[in-house]
Amino acid sequence: MMDQESMNPSLYRPIQLGSLHVEGNLFAAPMAGYTDHVAREVALNHGANLAYTEMISAEALTRGSERTQRMMRRGKNEEILAVQLFGSNPERLGQAAQLAVQAGANLLDLNAGCPVPKVTRNGAGSALPRDPVRLKEILLAMAEAKVPVSVKIRRGWNELEGDYWETALQMAVEAKAVAVGFHPRSRQQGYGGKADWELLTKVVQESPLPILGSGDLRSPQDVHSMLSRTGCAGVMLARGAVGKPQLYSQCRHFLQTGESTAPLAPVEKLIMAKNHLESAIEAFGADRASRDMKKQLAGYTSGWNGSNVLRHELMQCPHAEDLLGLLDSAITKGSSSI
Ligand SMILES: Cc1cc2nc3c(=O)[nH]c(=O)nc-3n(C[C@H](O)[C@H](O)[C@H](O)COP(=O)(O)O)c2cc1C
Repeated sequence: MMDQESMNPSLYRPIQLGSLHVEGNLFAAPMAGYTDHVAREVALNHGANLAYTEMISAEALTRGSERTQRMMRRGKNEEILAVQLFGSNPERLGQAAQLAVQAGANLLDLNAGCPVPKVTRNGAGSALPRDPVRLKEILLAMAEAKVPVSVKIRRGWNELEGDYWETALQMAVEAKAVAVGFHPRSRQQGYGGKADWELLTKVVQESPLPILGSGDLRSPQDVHSMLSRTGCAGVMLARGAVGKPQLYSQCRHFLQTGESTAPLAPVEKLIMAKNHLESAIEAFGADRASRDMKKQLAGYTSGWNGSNVLRHELMQCPHAEDLLGLLDSAITKGSSSI
């Protein structure tokens, strides 16, 4: 329980993204290999206010890749389909934006933060803000698709070059982006070390656009702390919410009341895991689901004494039906014997 003074109910608040009204400010961050439409459905069911697709290649989309097209499938409960695109060619990004909107996208986000060499080598992801003119051209090309456009950036490329967020922010403002996702790590830092929330505070102060903060959000207390300390308009939960979709409703409750929610019993987490796995099997087939769901299952099956044994068994399991079987028997054993 927090004292009245440190509690601020207005920390949970709506966000306006151009013409789009979003009821709350707890967003599921884009995560390649994680935020497929089933995972987004699960996050939204548990209280996320908006969930981004994983980053989608503008090149692949404009080449007509059906697999890439399927990455834009709308979840059943997805009122706002927020599609994140990556690439470095303004014309391609413009075409991809049109295709995304034809597929139903209500919001487009440009990935200008991915640190993976395969992406940055082509001038995309976190390499893009090194060429601010191109960054702006791309945002303007995407805006031609007539839905709100946002952009997600990091602080900079590396220590030697220094930060580039200021020019990137300026480009976003000039291109009339509706928001900026900010992850205060450099490309060089990857996902290691600590996200610099002090810098996030500075960015919020200097930005006329709503800033969505990202980095090191693992608990309702973290989310409260980022919103209150930095003044950002909203937050994007990433690694901290993998296999822990309950985090969204717990965050909302904590922001609104200052009270923590009782942790879920292991058996409740297992039931959530099973439901998620069954939906993934239905949507993607048993083979892909058994591969892709392992990392989600690792999240669901952590946090209680002895959970490592079950987790280890799950990770060794090659087939979806065996994963389901293991979850089923753990559920049957019930929370007392887990
Ligand atoms: C496995 C993985 C995949 C990610 N994929 C994307 C992505 O597709 N697009 C993007 O903008 N950020 C991506 N991110 C970055 C996250 O959205 C987030 O900004 C970052 O993980 C920092 O938040 P955290 O410290 O709370 O995890 C990814 C991160 C991870 C760990």
